[in-house]
Amino acid sequence: MRTHYCADINEQHIGQTVTVAGWVASRRDHGGVIFIDLRDKDEVVQLVCDPTDNVMAHKIAEEVRDQFVLLATGSIRARGEGLENPNLKTGKVEMVVDSLTIENRSKPMPFDLGDEKVNEEIRLKYRYLELRSQKSYDIFKLRSKATIATRNSLDAMDFLEVETPILTKSTPEGARDYLVPSRVHGGEFYALPQSPQLFKQLLMVSGFDRYFQIAKCFRDEDLRADRQPEFTQIDVEMSFCDQEDVIRVAEKLINDIFTACGFTIPTSFNRITHTEAMEKYGSDKPDMRYDLAMVDVIDIFERCDNEIFSGIAKTPKKNRIKALKVPQGDTIFSKRQMKGFEEYVRKFGAAGLGYFQMKEDGLKGPLTKFFSEDDIQAIIERCELEVGDAVFFGAGDKKLVLDYMGRFRIYLAELMDIIPQDTFEFLWVVDFPMFEVEDGRVKALHHPFTQPKTSENGTIDYEDIEEIESIAYDIVLNGTELGGGSIRIHKEAMQAEIFKLLGISEEEAQEKFGFLLDALKFGAPPHGGFAMGLDRMIMLMTGAQSIREVIAFPKTQRAQCMLTQAPSPVDAEQLKELSLRLRQTQTV
Ligand code: AMO
Repeated sequence: MRTHYCADINEQHIGQTVTVAGWVASRRDHGGVIFIDLRDKDEVVQLVCDPTDNVMAHKIAEEVRDQFVLLATGSIRARGEGLENPNLKTGKVEMVVDSLTIENRSKPMPFDLGDEKVNEEIRLKYRYLELRSQKSYDIFKLRSKATIATRNSLDAMDFLEVETPILTKSTPEGARDYLVPSRVHGGEFYALPQSPQLFKQLLMVSGFDRYFQIAKCFRDEDLRADRQPEFTQIDVEMSFCDQEDVIRVAEKLINDIFTACGFTIPTSFNRITHTEAMEKYGSDKPDMRYDLAMVDVIDIFERCDNEIFSGIAKTPKKNRIKALKVPQGDTIFSKRQMKGFEEYVRKFGAAGLGYFQMKEDGLKGPLTKFFSEDDIQAIIERCELEVGDAVFFGAGDKKLVLDYMGRFRIYLAELMDIIPQDTFEFLWVVDFPMFEVEDGRVKALHHPFTQPKTSENGTIDYEDIEEIESIAYDIVLNGTELGGGSIRIHKEAMQAEIFKLLGISEEEAQEKFGFLLDALKFGAPPHGGFAMGLDRMIMLMTGAQSIREVIAFPKTQRAQCMLTQAPSPVDAEQLKELSLRLRQTQTV
């Protein structure tokens, strides 16, 4: 219907007749002459309907309202002196309308497009209208570029795109499954995949060598700003590889994607071990856009006169005393603020938060009286304190201290506004522990198919199960976990041993993953891979506040689709067919 998209119209078209099509972004009646901003997918052009030029077009323009769908033909002319709009690609020209057709009318909008203050549930109910904004179009254009670049990059590296099932069996990524009842097999259920993990490993046993998929994954877990129940992974697996090979592929892929989307990033990324990340930043996904690293002072506190601290310091394996220096913190924060920070960390289980201030005449603060002159000096040196600095201390159980001090680090960075916004800081976190113990139960930190680090003779030797390391790695971007992966177990005996350590019985392992254990008996090659959250990547690239902005039809924090009203009840007949009867309806 159109001859040109709005964005393509410029000064070269002056004097030419063109046809454009789109939605009315705004309409202004200036004493007889009507101006319409007509917007198509990504640009606006100004239409001028002047009754002295064309009575008919002007008459139709009088009827036009916001978001009506128009087809307009007319000649392009330069805008008058001082009337140019530098914000538009078409800002130097306008169209004098000869013919105007109203293709469709629109009810008044339920909210102003682009108004982000409107309640999210309303915006999601009319998501198709929210998507009509320039901001949304730009996000989805970038997302499309990223997926196309993913395919091109992996294709160039000889990866094969393979689709794996959506109706499948539970996969062990640690969240709850979404279940689908079977009609044919009454009382039995499929699970939607939490990831294609097991299938991609099976494809390596098939000898496909290099696999990828832009895969929909489903996890019934508590939702946050960077989580959705249904999301997309860039999922990769390769054979006969070690960690270095996988990291090289991931870095090349990430580079290709970011380059295609118009960003320049380093070709390879820094690395840090999981232990260092936890000890220095209190997080397995530290944000490296700013410094604020913690140092260990447990040995100094052991000598102090305060029984609480010296007591904590007696068991350095179990406990931590960490210092977090804030350069010029003493000049930035008031004493009241410093005391107030204690309230913040208490929310995460801290018993308290100590602090020192580095003044002209030495180290000051409520705790100094417990330390000898030498130890005061030791603190100054260990924390590299200069006049004006403040330093905060967390003391207690290792996991607890690292957690709240890590959160406090982020809190301070946000408060002090020291996080650069237009930069990408990638970081590999490597050497993850294989297991974690929660409430006395052993859990796989990554997943149970991850290769643990073994001694030279291939055995797993350990005193403390949480000290066993794995060949697992995460890629972190600006403090968000973008992706993760590992080298996998490819020998059945090792897989059986890991299941045993996880407390999974042979029967349970057979029942849940028998097909994988079987496959490992038929010449499984050494293999490994990774998966990255595509939605998260686009969220970080576009600076979106929530993952929902970069998903066309997302769900709310309560996992509902406001547009279709899913989930919704089904009729009794359908339930009967599925051999299901509802006991009671329950909302969590
Ligand atoms: P993992 O569970 O770490 O690994 O997931 C990989 C990446 O997927 C993204 N992601 C999510 N994005 C949005 N909403 C969610 N609910 C969500 N959950 C995960 C994250 C995450 O880093 N099979 C392994 C990968 C492998 O070992 O190859 C896996 O799924 O960006």
